[in-house]
Amino acid sequence: MADSDHLVAVAREARERAVAPFSNFKVGAALVAKGGRVYGGCNVENASYGLTVCAERVALLKALSEGERGFEMIAVVADTADPTPPCGACRQLLWEYCGDIPVVLANLQKVTGRHQMRDLLPLPFDARLLK
Ligand code: THU
Repeated sequence: MADSDHLVAVAREARERAVAPFSNFKVGAALVAKGGRVYGGCNVENASYGLTVCAERVALLKALSEGERGFEMIAVVADTADPTPPCGACRQLLWEYCGDIPVVLANLQKVTGRHQMRDLLPLPFDARLLK
């Protein structure tokens, strides 16, 4: 079973590497694969704004590109009093590649929320419908 405290710690470290010169809103994520390996990610912005990639998707794409399939949990960290949950685009990809995993939200001090992916993306569109 994945350790959520460790995941939050990795997400906080990843957040320090955020490339967010436009929003100054730094986000870190950490995704643990079924085999136990943890992949960190930070948001990466760019001058066109629209090509920004969120921390969650960076972590997920890193893991997928290393050959990982199947995930246990993700942690997301931002410096906000209220929880910072994944955006809609990230929810779609997390659902498709990770399924109903727990999503742990935290800030720099504490955990601010815990959710299941099925609750964050009700009535999802996914590959089941393409058969
Ligand atoms: N962002 C993330 O990386 N993850 C989230 O869950 C919310 C938003 C990033 C995108 C952008 O670089 C900045 O936060 C402001 O939206």
